Amino acid sequence: MEQPILQIIGILHGDITSRQHAPKNYSESQRTGTLEIFPEFQEGLDGIEVGQTIVVLFWLHKSGRDVLKVYPRGDRSRGLRGVFATRSPMRPNPIAVSELQVLAIRGNFLDVLGLDILDGTPIIDIKKKI
Ligand SMILES: C[S@@+](CC[C@H](N)C(=O)[O-])C[C@H]1O[C@@H](n2cnc3c(N)ncnc32)[C@H](O)[C@@H]1O
Repeated sequence: MEQPILQIIGILHGDITSRQHAPKNYSESQRTGTLEIFPEFQEGLDGIEVGQTIVVLFWLHKSGRDVLKVYPRGDRSRGLRGVFATRSPMRPNPIAVSELQVLAIRGNFLDVLGLDILDGTPIIDIKKKI
């Protein structure tokens, strides 16, 4: 089968630099940062508005990809679970999904709230929340 080819559409700038100290998920984060969307994709931002919640897909570039079972949130008392039954960053395709509130839009830069993602993480897609 033909392998899918991903395009990186941008990069996240933020102040989260350690996996251990990152919020566990967007729903429990008040951290802010900036999505830099590369100029060739800027037109695709048309229609996004300040105050809106957007769904952002990231490629977790520092995550392990060879793991199929994890202890959810590192809690061994809960037992091992398949990665597809969790939100673990470790999975064959380390794609994260975060719902972020748009605080400001400056051309191809979007300031957002709710980050659980490391500075420098590639962005692979943005979608409207339904
Ligand atoms: C549990 S994942 C959830 C991500 C996304 N909100 C989701 O539900 O798909 C969030 C964790 O991923 C880790 N993480 C964030 N950015 C990463 C990156 N670029 N590479 C590897 N791990 C990362 C951090 O430890 C963070 O706490």
